[in-house]
Amino acid sequence: MSTRTQRIAVIPGDGIGLEVARAGVAVLEAAAAAHDLALDFAWFDLGADKYLREGVTLPDAVFESLRDDFDAIYLGALGDPRVPDLQHAKDILLGLRFRLDLYVNLRPVTLLHPELTPLKGKTPADLNFVIFRENTEGLYAGVGGRFKRGTPDEIAITEMVSTFKGVDRILRAAFDHAVRHGLSRVCMADKSNAIPHAHGLWRERFTAVAAEYPTIEARHLYADVLAMELVRAPEDFDVIVTSNLMGDVLSDLGAQLVGGLGLAPSANLHPGRHGLFEPVHGSAPPLAGKDVANPLAMILTGAQLLSWLGHTAAGAAIDAAVSRVLVRGETTADLGGSLGTQACAEAVIRQLVG
Ligand code: IPM
Ligand code: MG
Repeated sequence: MSTRTQRIAVIPGDGIGLEVARAGVAVLEAAAAAHDLALDFAWFDLGADKYLREGVTLPDAVFESLRDDFDAIYLGALGDPRVPDLQHAKDILLGLRFRLDLYVNLRPVTLLHPELTPLKGKTPADLNFVIFRENTEGLYAGVGGRFKRGTPDEIAITEMVSTFKGVDRILRAAFDHAVRHGLSRVCMADKSNAIPHAHGLWRERFTAVAAEYPTIEARHLYADVLAMELVRAPEDFDVIVTSNLMGDVLSDLGAQLVGGLGLAPSANLHPGRHGLFEPVHGSAPPLAGKDVANPLAMILTGAQLLSWLGHTAAGAAIDAAVSRVLVRGETTADLGGSLGTQACAEAVIRQLVG
């Protein structure tokens, strides 16, 4: 039972974002009713339509409200072919990650149904790890520039930024997660063999931080080797911690090991301060408005949001309800079912309250 109403900002965004956000909020409302939680939802019109209509992406006043007035942000997807440079998506999604300093991008990889993995002989016991992706630095920092633009002599430079503070805090977040959840192994993946400065720092800080967690088995792998190992022996991993771009790539690989982007949730966190929850998938413009998009990633993301707000039982109940609809085949077409987006969400709600 919560003592006060918790406020959730919903940003449906573009494309299938609106449909999956409706589905996700319907499930959260059902979970709130079933678990006696006081949640309040405020919908924000941010995205390509607003950008094309008004020329604004994330106005300061809206940013400040998202920062100050809400307990969590629940975001559908951003991306629209009418905005080819994706300016609005950069300002809103990357903007919120950077401006709220959401340095943890937590992406769980969990096999919810044995038939969903393309890996021969692997079971749900083998496929259960989390990726801690650094979310505020690396090649995403936006440092760089272009020189002699548009000429054959053009030079384009993007700097990879790794800071002692930035690397330490994501490493600690990964180890702390392992301790809190009774997990015994943390693997850090970098390319320090090819990127000696930025990733050399990762390597050094990993050794130093790992020494503070003597009960956890700390392993280092180069990121390319990790990509291979995740396919060969995913059971060897509990917690993976890595830099921004490596984590972007590895989390898509992880998603496909357990059924694809339609089932991949993610949380962008500044622990103790802010949380923005978004499915790993994008806005899938060709699917938009047809009631065919898979809402389960958004629904599982909602479960992460509830757990983060302190409602772990309600979050776990949503996860369990999603597992049951997968067993029952009550899914959208991408997973072999015949339901539409909203009907799939209703099937989850039936399992949740039934
Ligand atoms: C993700 C996405 C984003 C990223 C894009 C849309 C900028 O791929 O959240 O994984 O690269 O972080
Ligand atoms: Mg990605």
